[in-house]
Amino acid sequence: MNNNHFASILLDWYSRHKRDLPWRNTKEPYIIWLSEVILQQTRVAQGLPYFEKFLENFPKVGDLAEAPSDEVMRLWQGLGYYSRARNLHQCAKDIVAIYEGKFPDNYKTLLKLKGVGSYTAAAIASFAFDEPVAVVDGNVFRVLARYFGISTDIASGSGKKEFEKIANEHISKKYPAEYNQAIMEFGSLQCTPNKPNCEDCPLKLSCFAFNNGLVNQLPVKVNKIKVKERYFTYFYIVCGDHVVIKQRSGGDIWQGLYDFPLEERKIAHANEFKELSILEKLGLFDPKIHFNPETRFKHILTHQRIFANFATFVIDESHLSKLQKWAEENGYELADFPKLESVGKPRLIMKFLNGEK
Ligand code: ADE
Repeated sequence: MNNNHFASILLDWYSRHKRDLPWRNTKEPYIIWLSEVILQQTRVAQGLPYFEKFLENFPKVGDLAEAPSDEVMRLWQGLGYYSRARNLHQCAKDIVAIYEGKFPDNYKTLLKLKGVGSYTAAAIASFAFDEPVAVVDGNVFRVLARYFGISTDIASGSGKKEFEKIANEHISKKYPAEYNQAIMEFGSLQCTPNKPNCEDCPLKLSCFAFNNGLVNQLPVKVNKIKVKERYFTYFYIVCGDHVVIKQRSGGDIWQGLYDFPLEERKIAHANEFKELSILEKLGLFDPKIHFNPETRFKHILTHQRIFANFATFVIDESHLSKLQKWAEENGYELADFPKLESVGKPRLIMKFLNGEK
C-alpha cells in the first residue's frame, strides 16, 4: 500500500466506482488526446457520441490530418468553442508533419503541440505514458480545495499554480494514470459542486471542508467574466432551391463555420430595419419579405449573449443568376440545400433551421 493516504483512498474508491468509458481502456495517445479535447468542451454523456463519431471517421491521427477542414468543423458542430476544433485539426497535421505520426511521449514536448495546454499534456503523458504529472481541471480544483482547505481563487494565475503544486505533491508515483482518472472521477461523481455525497465519503474524516463546515464555500472562484450583449439581424435569402450563405472569417469564435448575411445592431429593437444596408441591395431582387420581429433567438456563450432576429427573403427564381453574381461580389455564396446541410454551422443557425426556440 502506498503511504500517501489521500492517493490510496482515491485509488481504492476509483477501483469500486469507476465508469467504464471507452478512452479508459487504451494507452493510445491519439484516442486519449481526442477524448480529452472533447471532454474539455462538454460533459461525458454529451461528449461520447462526438468521440465515437470522430474515431469512426478518423481512426488514426493521419486520417484526421488529411481531412478537409469543413468535415472536421461539421463533426464538431454543436460543441461550440470552434477554435478548439481548428487547433485539433492543426495539431493532427503537426503530429504527422513534425513527429512522423507519433505523439511525443512526455509532458514537456506534448505542451508544445497546438491547443495542448497543461491539462491536456498531463492527461496524455500520464494516461498513455505513465508519467507522474498531475491533471488539474475543475473537478480536481474542487476536490483539492475542499480536502486541503485551500481558499485561493481558482480563476487566478497564482491560484492555478498553487493547485498544480499540491496536485503534483500528492499524485501516486506508482499509479499516475489511475490516480489522475480517480481524482477527476471522484470530483464528478462524489465530490460534486452541489450536494456532494459527504455522508458516504471515504475522505471525510480528514477533509478540511467537511470538518469545518466549508463544503459549500470551497472552492473559491471570483467570476471575472464580463458578458456582452449583441443584437444580430440575419438575412435568410432563399431563391428556388438555393440560399445565400457565408463562411465566417476574421478570427472570431465562429471562424470557418457558415452562416447567413448578417448585420449587427447597437440596440435591442429590430424596428430600425431601414438602417440595415443590405436591404437596399436586396431591393434589386424584389423579394417577398417574411420578417417577424418577435422571432428572437437568444444564444448564450461564455462572454456574450446574442439576441438574433432572422428575416426571410424569398426571391423569384428568375433572379437566380443576378443573385449569384451579387452574392459573389459581396463575399457570399449561393448554396443548394444539401450543401447548407453538410457544412459546419453555429448552434444558433441550427436552432433557426430546425425551428427550435
Ligand atoms: N473529463 C475530462 N477527462 C475525463 C476522463 N478522462 N474521464 C472522464 N471524465 C473526464
